[in-house]
Amino acid sequence: MSSREPIGVIGTGYVGLVTAVGFAELGSEVVCVDIDAAKIERLKAGDIPIYEPGLAELVEKNASRLTFTTDLSEALDRARLLFVAVGTPPTYSGDADLSAVHAVVAAMPPSDKHALVMKSTVPVGTGEAIKRVFEEQGKGGFRYVSCPEFLKEGSAIDDFLDPDRVVVGDDGGWAGDAVVDLYRPVLNAANGGQARGELVRTDIKSAEMVKLASNAFLATKISFINEIANVCEETGADVVEVARGMGLDDRIGPKFLKAGIGFGGSCFPKDVSALKQLAGNSGYHFQLLNAVIEVNELQKRRVIQKLQKHLGSLVGKRIALLGLAFKPETDDMREASSLVLSARLIADGADVVGYDPIAAEEAGRLLKGVELADSAAEAIAGADAVVLVTEWPEFKQLDLTATAEAMRGTVFIDGRNLLDPAAATAAGLVYEGVGRGLAPLADPSTRQAPAPQVA
Ligand code: UGA
Repeated sequence: MSSREPIGVIGTGYVGLVTAVGFAELGSEVVCVDIDAAKIERLKAGDIPIYEPGLAELVEKNASRLTFTTDLSEALDRARLLFVAVGTPPTYSGDADLSAVHAVVAAMPPSDKHALVMKSTVPVGTGEAIKRVFEEQGKGGFRYVSCPEFLKEGSAIDDFLDPDRVVVGDDGGWAGDAVVDLYRPVLNAANGGQARGELVRTDIKSAEMVKLASNAFLATKISFINEIANVCEETGADVVEVARGMGLDDRIGPKFLKAGIGFGGSCFPKDVSALKQLAGNSGYHFQLLNAVIEVNELQKRRVIQKLQKHLGSLVGKRIALLGLAFKPETDDMREASSLVLSARLIADGADVVGYDPIAAEEAGRLLKGVELADSAAEAIAGADAVVLVTEWPEFKQLDLTATAEAMRGTVFIDGRNLLDPAAATAAGLVYEGVGRGLAPLADPSTRQAPAPQVA
């Protein structure tokens, strides 16, 4: 029996499963609770419902420490810390939908031996509101800790076990200390650990804000470099060189300076709007975030303009999309650029074929009117233009000469600057990346003025 504290994890999505298996790996018994009985049955059978590198192996390795159940009381009986990792999707207003969080709060019994530890991303002030609800419902002894999660899909296990920082926000009492103890092995020596993680021990509201502000800042970095890329296209500079030159400045850093066709996923779009909305609700107009969102929307649409520039009308043109997930190493299609791109292309009369090594099943459900290919080669064959949407490693290995031969046309839009422009051009492709100069027209007779940009 491990000396580590047992825990409960409520919600078995990305964050919940990774948190559960991460703490199990560190030695805790973990009771995972979800209201979705079918999902719990799958998990009990060892079938992991999401694609995340290393996750299935780690679940199997720690199977003896993991329990999956729909019964909350099992977690309450065996653990005092209940990590909450339920979804907080955006509502139509851009605010976060907290109904799943409130359902968890309502399900808690009165107790002075338990604490809710909030992993879900919630607006600043949520912890305070939950504490108020606990008081009103006669559950004032229930403790509350904010412990936001910073893991990235695709590298979630490493992010959990080797974090840059662990943020714990509480208002004193045993629960915050217990959460820090759980994280101790991944903290740095100054905080009693043997790893790299810095500890930020703070109040609940500041912890909640660290999470929103971090995601909003990273999204800002991406929209910033995307605007620089757009200016590079006008001026002939190469954004890859520019980003490298900028990133070598310690104060800027090289990460999240990859220009492309915009950010997607379940977090950045949602959290940027949530922070903008949170500011607006409290009377502050967060101007910068409006621009971050608008630039991101326009960035996807620039691909359409590039295609029109080379092909003229897109009616009847066969366009191949390589990569459909919002980023590589995940099957997550939430807010994926492929959703907007395919819908725009179809609206413009194009025939769209898509390929993704992992996300095909989910893509099939979401991408209406898109033909799904079983391989990149199948998608490319007969295409008038290819758009590289997601930078899956296998696309780096594309045989460019074979690609040019298999296509009907020659236009290759590299939405992630994955390929070498010189090699693509040498293979006979009309290559256009993002912020790397504009290619001469594929066929000057099809020249047309770019459409005006609208979000
Ligand atoms: C993001 C944050 O990076 C995590 O720290 C955070 O925990 C998570 O949101 C969350 O709030 O749950 P994630 O959405 O998994 O993680 O993916 P990222 O790797 O951050 O990528 C987000 C998007 O930005 C992707 O569409 C990616 O293609 C795009 N991106 C990223 C760029 O366009 N350029 C870059 O330089 C980096």
